Amino acid sequence: MKILKRIALTVLAGLLFVSFGASADDAYPLQNPQYTMNRATVIRGAKLFADNCMACHSVSSIRYDRLTQDLGMPEADVKKEIMLPDKADYLMGMSSTMPPALAIKMFGYAPPDLSHMERYKGANWIYTYLLSFYQDPSRPSGWNNHVFPNVAMPDVLAPWGGIVNAHGQVIQKGSMSLAKFQNQAADIVAFLRYTADPSVFERWAFGLWVLGGLLVFTISAFFLKREYWKDVHQASDGSI
Ligand code: HEC
Repeated sequence: MKILKRIALTVLAGLLFVSFGASADDAYPLQNPQYTMNRATVIRGAKLFADNCMACHSVSSIRYDRLTQDLGMPEADVKKEIMLPDKADYLMGMSSTMPPALAIKMFGYAPPDLSHMERYKGANWIYTYLLSFYQDPSRPSGWNNHVFPNVAMPDVLAPWGGIVNAHGQVIQKGSMSLAKFQNQAADIVAFLRYTADPSVFERWAFGLWVLGGLLVFTISAFFLKREYWKDVHQASDGSI
C-alpha cells in the first residue's frame, strides 16, 4: 500500500511539474481590450480592419452586405469605406486581394483568414498580439512578437503605436497616444469578435424577447396557481 501511495504522489508531482512548465512557456501576460460591444464599435473596427489588415487578411465568411444587415451600416458607406473600389462585390465575402502565392513569396506564410480567429485564439490574445510587436533585426521582416514568437507578419500598426525593441525601449514614437492606439486596436478586436460570431447582436435582442416571454409566463403561472388553489383552500376551510 505504501508503495502505491508513493507512486501516486510521484505521478502527481510529475503532473504538477509538467503543468507549471507548460504555463511558464506562455508566460507573457495577456491584456484585456477595453471596448463596448455594440454596433458602432464594430463598424469602427470594420473600417480600421479594411484600411490596415485587408491588404493581407480576408474575413471571407462575412459578406459585405452583412455589414448592412447585422450592423446597420448603409450600403453606400460599405461600398465607399470598406470595399476596395471595383475589386469587390457587395454580395461576396470580404476577401483580401493579395494572391496567396505572392503572400508566401513575401512573408513565407499565407496570412490566415481571420473570420474565426477570435474563437480560436481569444480576444485577449489578438489584442495583446497587436500591441506586442518589437523590432528584431535577426528576423527576415525585421519584426518579432512577444505572444507569437518569430511571427511572419510585420508590425503594420507601428505608425500608430511606435516602434519598440525587445526590452520595450522606444525607438520611434508613434502618431497616437497609447490610449488612442489601444482603443483602435480594441475596436479591431471587437470587429473580429463579430466576424467569429456574426449573430451576436441578433441573439442578444432575441434573448431579451425570450426573457420577456418567460416573465409573462411566470406571472400568468402565478395567477393561475392562485386561482386553482383558491378552491382547495376554501375546501379545506370547510366553506365548500
Ligand atoms: C502585410 C501583410 C499583413 C497585414 C497588413 C496584416 N497581417 Fe496579420 N498576418 C500576416 C501574416 C503573413 C501572418 C502569418 C504569420 C505567421 O504565421 O508567422 C499574419 C498573422 C496574423 C495573426 C495570427 C494568426 C495565427 O495564426 O495565430 C493575426 C491575429 C493577425 N495576423 C491579425 C492582423 C490584423 C488585426 C491586422 C490589421 C491590423 C493584420 N493582421 C495585418 C500578414 C499581415
